[in-house]
Parts: sequence; C-alpha cells; structure tokens
Amino acid sequence: MKIAMGADHLGFALKETIKAHLGALGHEVVDFGVPDVQEVDYPDIAVEVAREVAAAAFDRAVLVCGTGIGMAITANKVPGVRAASVSDPYSAERARKSNDAQVLCLGARVVGAEVALLLVDHWLAAEFQACGSAAKWPK
Ligand code: RB5
Repeated sequence: MKIAMGADHLGFALKETIKAHLGALGHEVVDFGVPDVQEVDYPDIAVEVAREVAAAAFDRAVLVCGTGIGMAITANKVPGVRAASVSDPYSAERARKSNDAQVLCLGARVVGAEVALLLVDHWLAAEFQACGSAAKWPK
C-alpha cells in the first residue's frame, strides 16, 4: 500500500519506528514530517496528510501525536477523511471493519512502540464490511 505518515514533535520517535516497520513489510511510505523533535503545531501536519488521503494520493495514512486525539480531530475536518484514534487492537480492527478509517491516529504517550506496531498491523489487515441489512432510522 501507499501510506502517508505524519507526526508532531511528541510523535516523532514513534513515527520513525512505524515507518521502518511499514517499509520492512514492503509498503511505500512517504513521510510528511516532522523531521525532528522541534515543537510544532500538530494540526499543520494532520491537515497536510489528510488532504493527501482525501485526494486519493495515498491508500492510508498514519498520524502520531501525544494522544492521537488532536490528529484525529483535525484530520476528520477534511472532507472524505475518516480518522480514528485507537489504543487497543479491537478498536484498530473495527476502525476498518465498521468505520472504513483510512487514517490511523496513535498517541505516543498512550501506547508503547510494540503495541503501536500491533495496532498498525491489525488496522492494515482489516477491510471495511459494509452493512446493508440494518433497518434504516428514522423510518
Ligand atoms: C502537543 O502539542 C500535544 O497537544 C499533541 O501532541 C497531541 O497530544 C494533541 O492531541
């Protein structure tokens, strides 16, 4: 897959770890920064990456900040983008199966590197399952 990556200063180190992991799995990864731990405003990174996903330039994107929350809030403001901040494997999987999230947001101060890689793997492996049989509401 073609995967965009972005992080703020708090997410920089975890971004580098995930980038190496994705590269080793054979994915094409493009890093939109940041390149170091100099303090930045996370929305600047989130919007740039989210716009790339909305433009279909990438299949998926991974954003990392301190909690994952700010990245998700910001990315979800870009039309067409579905971003989910997750910290457990079930939610990572459901973010794809239930929510068709193309953007995974992680908190470097919430999950350690090993858990983060597990979350990425679960999210990458799952596919959206459209539900067409549910009753429509309101009727
Ligand atoms: C630092 O800017 C911190 O607020 C950010 O990394 C993130 O946790 C926001 O949701």
